[in-house]
Amino acid sequence: MGNTMIYEQEVALMTVSHIPLTADGPTFSRLVLGLGNLAEWQLTDAQLLGLLQVAFDLGITTLDHADIYGDHRCEMLLGRALASEPTLRQRLQFVGKCGIKPASPNRPENRVKHYDTSKVHILASVESSLRDLGTDYLDLLLLHRPDPLMNPDEVAEAFSEMRQTGKVRHFGVSNFTPWQVHLLGSRLPFPLVTNQVELSPLALDVLHDGTLDQCMRLGMTPMVWSPLAGGRLFTSDEPPARRVRQALRDIGEELGTASLDQVALAWLFTHPANVLPVLGSNNLEHLRSAAAAASMRLTRQQWFQIWQASAGRPVP
Ligand SMILES: NC(=O)c1ccc[n+]([C@@H]2O[C@H](COP(=O)([O-])OP(=O)(O)OC[C@H]3O[C@@H](n4cnc5c(N)ncnc54)[C@H](OP(=O)(O)O)[C@@H]3O)[C@@H](O)[C@H]2O)c1
Repeated sequence: MGNTMIYEQEVALMTVSHIPLTADGPTFSRLVLGLGNLAEWQLTDAQLLGLLQVAFDLGITTLDHADIYGDHRCEMLLGRALASEPTLRQRLQFVGKCGIKPASPNRPENRVKHYDTSKVHILASVESSLRDLGTDYLDLLLLHRPDPLMNPDEVAEAFSEMRQTGKVRHFGVSNFTPWQVHLLGSRLPFPLVTNQVELSPLALDVLHDGTLDQCMRLGMTPMVWSPLAGGRLFTSDEPPARRVRQALRDIGEELGTASLDQVALAWLFTHPANVLPVLGSNNLEHLRSAAAAASMRLTRQQWFQIWQASAGRPVP
């Protein structure tokens, strides 16, 4: 009995925690699995289910996808794999996106890549996502990119309708400037719950352009894509990447056994906005390593050492 309790505590300590994105939810895992490259991974259904099971056991229950990923095939692949484990859906959170129309042989009607945040397109895209995923609701829908032709009242109508029918439970945006968030938020009868933006030790912009400040001001939690710079953190020969790797290595040694990915993620987890990194890995060891980083925090000096390595200069 005593041993079981210790084991349960150890497992609990190793798993990723869950946090609400706003006071009214949704509640997501602190680390999110990004499925943008699912089609390239070429997994069998059984392999994908295995990956989701490992993620799930680590506490990673939130999955990030979009209508356009994998040339519109990723959601279908996910839905096909989950069809054999229907009970899993209730224990996962789906984050979908819409609003980009790529020029693709799959969509010959799109002569040029463009954005479309019209009500008609938003509703059609969500219907198609729900069908492909084999589910009757999305936990969160994001507008994928700011659309210069966005009519915020029309978006508000589409969002309100989907909220009422229960097809989408919460709404957010991605890659929006603070003013764009402000504009859309001003037309909605409920709060946006996230702005999903790029942030990593090689992409510092949102730390300084008001994006994260606005999230904290509004009480919404940012999700961050390419938290490991899409892998460039490990492979790029550019000077900032080389400097950042050295800083991560030095801090990893100070912390004991922390690996480069863990220090990079700890750098993100240290930010007071409580960012949720969206990790794009199908490597089980990399997932385990990332999950262990969710409880790591850096000192201010370690955090700024990485900032300085990236910027190539000390703070002013
Ligand atoms: N909202 C948007 O506009 C937007 C834009 C881009 C992406 N996204 C979302 O963000 C997700 C993640 O993006 P991303 O793939 O660029 O993120 P990422 O997690 O920064 O990069 C993933 C890459 O890093 C590698 N990696 C992970 N851990 C590693 C480790 N410990 N050592 C060495 N390599 C490691 C992965 O390889 P392994 O597979 O071998 O681990 C993969 O090649 C996407 O899937 C998508 O869901 C959103």
